[in-house]
Amino acid sequence: PRVGIIVVAAGSGTRLAAGGPKAFVGIDGRSVLRHALDGVFAAPTAQVVVVAPDGREGDALSEALAASGDRRDLVSVVRGGTTRQASVAAGLDALWADVEIVLVHDAARSLTPPEVFERVIAAIDEGAPGAIPVLSVIDTIKRVAGDEIVAAVDRAELAAAQTPQGFRRDVLDAAYATATEDFTDDAAVVAEAGHAVAAVPGHPLAFKITTPADLDRARHLLGAQAA
Ligand code: CTP
Ligand code: MG
Repeated sequence: PRVGIIVVAAGSGTRLAAGGPKAFVGIDGRSVLRHALDGVFAAPTAQVVVVAPDGREGDALSEALAASGDRRDLVSVVRGGTTRQASVAAGLDALWADVEIVLVHDAARSLTPPEVFERVIAAIDEGAPGAIPVLSVIDTIKRVAGDEIVAAVDRAELAAAQTPQGFRRDVLDAAYATATEDFTDDAAVVAEAGHAVAAVPGHPLAFKITTPADLDRARHLLGAQAA
């Protein structure tokens, strides 16, 4: 089946506070977006849609062409929206008609290894309407109300969601067409539309670069000097 990967990179990076959109912040010699795209182009993909911040479409295109090697024809760039959900919707609008499986990936999960893409695609290939990578939760989790501990939550019932999150294209299109609320991930949009979403093993390297400490971690992992 034909796979399309939407890379959402239109966020402002408020928590990273690096003086500009997070996607264009350098990790080593390469940006957050470029590293993410290097992983994306290692996956079996037939289209890559980069969703860029308003006014940075040209920069996003340069990064995508650099990562694409001799597959420049797979690249599309569109402008994102004010929420992640709006940015994904913009990406969906840009998918070619023959794309059958859609993966939505956070550019901020720059170091996600190719095997995670492969696991998600395989789960959908095998019949799941959707599949997302998850990691078990390390901390002991409590339910709280204000400053009061209300209950312990069984960690075995919990998982931390990562990206790329993959779906049958028809399922994701329909779910986005009816979604009203603002969800923080695509699995929630699809689950609200009534579809079962499968879990596949995530990867520690698929962590999201959110804070300056996360950027330092990425720099160390790449063997670069923490700036
Ligand atoms: N994203 C997007 N469009 C938005 C908001 C987020 O494409 N309007 C993307 C980000 O670029 C990122 C991913 O969604 O790759 C996950 O979002 P997050 O880590 O929250 O990034 P930012 O929103 O940029 O960061 P912050 O919330 O700290 O401002
Ligand atoms: Mg955000």
